[in-house]
Amino acid sequence: MTDSRESRGQAEISFVVNGEPKTVRAYPMERLLDVLRQQLQLTGTKEGCGEGECGSCSVLMDGSLVNSCLVPVLQAQGASIVTIEGLACGETLHVLQETFLECGGAQCGICTPGMILAACHLLNRTPTPTLEEIREGLSGNLCRCTGYAQIVEAVAEAARRGTST
Ligand code: FES
Ligand code: FES
Repeated sequence: MTDSRESRGQAEISFVVNGEPKTVRAYPMERLLDVLRQQLQLTGTKEGCGEGECGSCSVLMDGSLVNSCLVPVLQAQGASIVTIEGLACGETLHVLQETFLECGGAQCGICTPGMILAACHLLNRTPTPTLEEIREGLSGNLCRCTGYAQIVEAVAEAARRGTST
């Protein structure tokens, strides 16, 4: 039904998600968050505030940490995106996923995918961060459950073990 009234104004937009080329048909101003979750079934990316305040919807886009609730899908044209689903390698968890589990960095889990991607972004740039740098690197990501101490410890432990996205 590509010529129906509903689809008028939609465009084909192509990008790479977790290493796989994807083409979606969407309105240019649709939120990347919705396209990831609804069209690509990548529901690991969570919606918290929907206003750019909480970081739950964080993904990596061309290596930058972005709030996917604020990104029109058109901006993703040609980009390379990493979501939480792209971190594990088969059955093997990413080191940050392991340390979040071991340190109690995930409770309800709503903030966790975004928090882990923010941590990836930090460790990609600063492989051996201080605790202050970890807190600063995660400052755009809110957690209502943990009090942050376990999250900071999880990132510090991942840094000790060594990681990269
Ligand atoms: S849902 Fe995107 S920043 Fe809160
Ligand atoms: S674990 Fe619940 S919001 Fe962070």
